[in-house]
Amino acid sequence: MLVLNKITEIKAILAQEKLKGKTIGFVPTMGALHQGHISLIDYSKQQTDITVCSIFVNPTQFNNQTDLVHYPRTPEADIKLLETAGCDILYMPEISDVYPESDNRKFDFGYLDHILEGATRPGHFNGVGQVVSILLEGVQPNKAFFGSKDYQQVMVVRSLVKQLSLSIEIVSCPILREPDGLAMSSRNTRLTAEERQISAHIPKWMQEANQLIIEKGIEAGKQFINEKVSKVPEMKLDYYEVCDAETLESISDIKANQKVVSLIAVFVGNIRLIDNWMVN
Ligand code: PAF
Repeated sequence: MLVLNKITEIKAILAQEKLKGKTIGFVPTMGALHQGHISLIDYSKQQTDITVCSIFVNPTQFNNQTDLVHYPRTPEADIKLLETAGCDILYMPEISDVYPESDNRKFDFGYLDHILEGATRPGHFNGVGQVVSILLEGVQPNKAFFGSKDYQQVMVVRSLVKQLSLSIEIVSCPILREPDGLAMSSRNTRLTAEERQISAHIPKWMQEANQLIIEKGIEAGKQFINEKVSKVPEMKLDYYEVCDAETLESISDIKANQKVVSLIAVFVGNIRLIDNWMVN
């Protein structure tokens, strides 16, 4: 695996490969890699000829500086994992390579900016838009692979690609889960042993709530989650919403043939975890 820190080097190598007719798959990450990320590498390897991964903790998408400072960084372990997974090129830039000058662009993702993650993390998606546009324009892949744990992020990235008229296919990949059901996340490593145990309730409650939604309606599911979370002192609910799976608009009733997703953000101690499950 080639490990490079200049986008100009990546561009030069990929230009040669594209001339040979090779297709490029891209997996952007912020590092602290786990098997969820590796599954994205696997999808990319299955669907394209050359897989490029990036590791860059993007400061512009953190609205909380403490979160940025404490974001886990495990570069040596990441490189080993990627090598074993058969990743071809790793881009590990300094901030100055991604942002040679400050990026003042403002993206408009419409209502996606104002709901769920957009509402509780102001500026977050603008920062994601900035870095993802720079990375996509640098790597110019045929396909880019994103985890569907960040359900709203995938929608934002699709909107970004459309706005910038990039001919890149955005592939949304399934959530990988720990044996107890907790969605894999780099943030899980920051949980204490006790918090980690408590976190295993999240996927279980979400599935139970989904069952209630189907049997008794959306309000019953919401009440269930609110009650469960409020009984655990270490937990604080940021949001729990039931939405149309295509538009992410919050709904109160399920229409015939409507695809529905439930989404949660919850603090366990100081760590904010997100998850989502299809209801039907
Ligand atoms: O999902 C992430 O890890 C980040 O938001 C991304 C897409 C790599 C942009 O920094």
